[in-house]
Amino acid sequence: MNSINLNISFEQYESITELKLVDRTLCELAEQALKTSYSPYSKFRVGTAIRLASGETVLGSNQENLAYPSGLCAERVALFTIGATYPNAVIESMAITAQTDNFEILKPITSCGGCLQVMAEFERKQNAPIEVIFYCLNGEVLKVSSVKSLLPFAFVEDRLER
Ligand code: THU
Repeated sequence: MNSINLNISFEQYESITELKLVDRTLCELAEQALKTSYSPYSKFRVGTAIRLASGETVLGSNQENLAYPSGLCAERVALFTIGATYPNAVIESMAITAQTDNFEILKPITSCGGCLQVMAEFERKQNAPIEVIFYCLNGEVLKVSSVKSLLPFAFVEDRLER
């Protein structure tokens, strides 16, 4: 039996003012994306902004449905938009933020497992790391330099191909 420890690293900032300008701008765009959230059931708005190597930015927000499982998270709305409209794009970075009228969010929200798996697929497809920034409107920011830090045991394709 082997006992193995994995180390992941992330950066923590007290506020977006500590970020470099491109990252701060991406966080501000994620905040803008909150406005298009359709979340009448959870009342929990999630916004994301994704920066492509081309310099373009794609926004996404969570889209809910009366049949609850038919809704989709903000991250996947934006990622699948990229897959469908810029299939050869390289993603540099994505910022995610959330807001609700029901309570104060005091820590950055982190993405669900389903979204992490989709991020991992995009990272594998482009063969280059994707930075992920989780931005709390009340201040704190977490940043990883690759999806691997968030989902080290992502389901990978060789499990299907062998
Ligand atoms: N949600 C996201 O948009 N991203 C996540 O990573 C987790 C959750 C959305 C789904 C639903 O509309 C609301 O947040 C509450 O779960």
